Amino acid sequence: MDRRKFLQTAFASGALFAIDGLISNSEANETFFEGTPIFKPEIKTVHGQKHTPFIDAPKKVKAGEFFEVRVITGYYHPHPNKVEHHIEWSSLYINAFEAGQATFKATISNPDVTFKVKIDSKGKSILRAFSYCNIHGLWLSFPKEIEVV
Ligand SMILES: [Fe+2]
Repeated sequence: MDRRKFLQTAFASGALFAIDGLISNSEANETFFEGTPIFKPEIKTVHGQKHTPFIDAPKKVKAGEFFEVRVITGYYHPHPNKVEHHIEWSSLYINAFEAGQATFKATISNPDVTFKVKIDSKGKSILRAFSYCNIHGLWLSFPKEIEVV
C-alpha cells in the first residue's frame, strides 16, 4: 500500500490525527501501520468495549514533570486473555509522538500498563493509545486532552 492510499485508509477509519503528523513524522510508524486498518474508539457494542483502550491521566500536569498515564484494554468490558485470543501490545502517544509501548504475554500479563511521561511545552496536549488484538487488530482510544501548565 502506498503512502497516499494508507493515509486515505487512516482518514476513512477515523484516525484523523494520522494526517497531522502521527504517521508522517515517523518512518517506523509508517512501516508498522502500513496495511493495518485502525479501528476507531467504539463502546456502544461489547466488541468495541473489549478492544477500545481506556486512558486514565490527570487533567492538568506541570511542564517538565513526570506524571502517570495508565492505559487499560478491557476497561469497558474484559477482553479474553488466552493464547489463541489476547491483546499483544498497547502504546501511548502524546500528540503526534509515541511515548511508549508495552507488550503482553497471553494468560500471564494483563493489558493494563502505566507509563511515566513528561511534556515540556505548556498548553493543551492530546493523549491517545493504541491496543493490538491478535485476532481483531489495531484499536484506537478516545483522545484525552490534558492541560500542561
Ligand atoms: Fe480481540
